[in-house]
Amino acid sequence: MNTKPLGPSGLNASVIGLGAWVLGGGTVWGPNPDDSESIRTIQEALDLGVNLIDTAPAYGWGRSETVVGQALKGRRDKAIVATKCGLWWEDDRGSFFAHFDGRPMNRSLRPDTLQLEIEQSLRRLGTDRIDLYQTHWPSAPPEATPIADTMATLVKLRDQGKVRALGVCNVSPDELLENLRCGGIVSDQFRYSMLCRGAEKDILPLCAEKGLATLTYMSLEQGLLTGKVGMDRVFNPGEFRTNDAWNPWFLPVNRRRILDQLAAWQDLTDKYACTLAQLVLAWTAAQPGVTHVLAGARNATQLRENVRAASLNLEPADLARMRRDVEALGEPAHQS
Ligand SMILES: NC(=O)c1ccc[n+]([C@@H]2O[C@H](COP(=O)([O-])OP(=O)(O)OC[C@H]3O[C@@H](n4cnc5c(N)ncnc54)[C@H](OP(=O)(O)O)[C@@H]3O)[C@@H](O)[C@H]2O)c1
Repeated sequence: MNTKPLGPSGLNASVIGLGAWVLGGGTVWGPNPDDSESIRTIQEALDLGVNLIDTAPAYGWGRSETVVGQALKGRRDKAIVATKCGLWWEDDRGSFFAHFDGRPMNRSLRPDTLQLEIEQSLRRLGTDRIDLYQTHWPSAPPEATPIADTMATLVKLRDQGKVRALGVCNVSPDELLENLRCGGIVSDQFRYSMLCRGAEKDILPLCAEKGLATLTYMSLEQGLLTGKVGMDRVFNPGEFRTNDAWNPWFLPVNRRRILDQLAAWQDLTDKYACTLAQLVLAWTAAQPGVTHVLAGARNATQLRENVRAASLNLEPADLARMRRDVEALGEPAHQS
């Protein structure tokens, strides 16, 4: 497995990281994951050289962190554990973020909730240090915490040895710069796929300029870009894939266009003897500024397939052709 520096942290992380959101389960992800299969998946990731494991307290209300911790028992040093802080549900501190599984979750980057969160994450993960500690979403009104206050707390946690390196997720360029000024982050995590390329305008070049690692998420568009989600697939109400604001490409009118496009790449999957998931992940990893691609995997079969993308080198002409094709798809239609 190829590795790249995790920004200036001194850590080298696998180019394909395992995203552990789905392992938290809940109505957002449809079928409930089997924890023993989740543990096997994480352990097989380590066996295959995937050392970057990305989780968060919010994924299944602690469940994802707990299975990561169970999987890493006895092998903690093989992994770069990336988790997050800043989504809070224990009381009404913070600002409302969203409902998951019918329960409200707030954003909170207040020093007092951060101090509680780190202890809970360490306990669930069964470790005494987190390798990469990322703010999950920036603070927002009505109860916004200044970045300087959040970063002062996080830097203290780093100085205490509870955290090795700090990162952010989902920030604007201005917020990224302010986080850098206040504490020395090493990475930024954000949504980026061949269908969702907004980060190319600002965040990707900015991270490259500042020498930060970039961890892309939803790069398989939650399975759509594997080609397996046919026109007959129906999602349960509440599944994230029915969220038109986030996932408009799943709407049947858009899905048809994606499936046709994926089918038109048959010559590429033949040429590289690869699957669509591998082709898409390899394209993503090859884009300027991208250092690491997080791929969620519900089971070891998906993981094994995704891992091979790290060793797939697409020729420049094929990368350019795929870009032309996805640009020609234009914007997805939204539900009226
Ligand atoms: N910081 C943030 O705000 C944020 C937000 C989103 C995600 N993330 C991180 O990024 C990671 C990746 O994003 P994601 O998991 O949402 O989306 P993703 O990687 O685009 O898609 C993952 C899903 O696609 C399906 N899949 C994956 N590999 C497959 C394969 N080879 N064949 C068939 N299906 C396959 C599986 O879903 P099914 O089995 O259900 O079909 C899997 O759960 C997350 O796990 C999380 O760690 C972070």
